[in-house]
Amino acid sequence: MNKEKYTLRIYRGVPGNQYWEEFELERSASANVISSLMAIQTNPINKEGKATTPVAWEQGCLEEVCGSCSMLVNGRPRQACTALIEDIINEGCSTTITLAPFTKFPLVRDLCVDRTKMFESLKKVRAWVSVDGTWDTTKQFGQKVGPEVQEALYVLSTCMTCGCCSESCPQVNDHSPFIGPAPVSQARLFNAHPGGEYEKPERLRALLDEDGISGCGNAQNCAKVCPKKIPLTESIALIGKETMKQAIKDALKLPDT
Ligand code: SF4
Ligand code: SF4
Ligand code: FES
Repeated sequence: MNKEKYTLRIYRGVPGNQYWEEFELERSASANVISSLMAIQTNPINKEGKATTPVAWEQGCLEEVCGSCSMLVNGRPRQACTALIEDIINEGCSTTITLAPFTKFPLVRDLCVDRTKMFESLKKVRAWVSVDGTWDTTKQFGQKVGPEVQEALYVLSTCMTCGCCSESCPQVNDHSPFIGPAPVSQARLFNAHPGGEYEKPERLRALLDEDGISGCGNAQNCAKVCPKKIPLTESIALIGKETMKQAIKDALKLPDT
């Protein structure tokens, strides 16, 4: 084992034609996965010394805010921009690091996947505050929010739609329509916002659909892998109770307010 070098073993290719390719790089204290991929892009020569195509990956903020660089690093869903090479080598006790694209999203190429379904799920649960002029927002937006609520909502608001939670969730798979934990948590965020409360019944009804809250099997992997430490299982439990109440209200034909 050459202690001055490390190997990136990357699962590359396009749908239907994926393969592993290795690259050897010099170790440095400041390298992270993104800077390593950039080094390969500058000099796309694989470990066998053969010229190859540069590896495709996505990146945006480079500070764990946009979620676009998410991938499997040594099998763990995380952001490439904050994955320091030296830390990964020490954690895994190996100078070979594997990189692979997420498996729960359609593959585009190499390490790029299409996370559109996460954004579609946010639309489904109306993960926003409507300010389209169809209702009076002055009362709701004028309300004060206490520091405890602010703190709880702030954590929920840090979700970057990275997909790590869906990637780790056994219930998100080809045989299940489950939309995953992140949209459930975003419904909690906007239901608790004084300006978003107005659309709470619609969000809850959306989560009563077959792809909604009932798909969660309570395995709790999601909260363990969330890089923002969002209490996903707490959100799922809370929304589970609220959807139940909404279903009863709807069955009894009670008004929304
Ligand atoms: S809940 Fe956490 S893991 Fe899931 S998409 Fe949001 S930030 Fe990523
Ligand atoms: S609790 Fe388990 S089944 Fe439910 S969303 Fe999280 S990982 Fe998936
Ligand atoms: S580039 Fe935005 S989270 Fe990594």
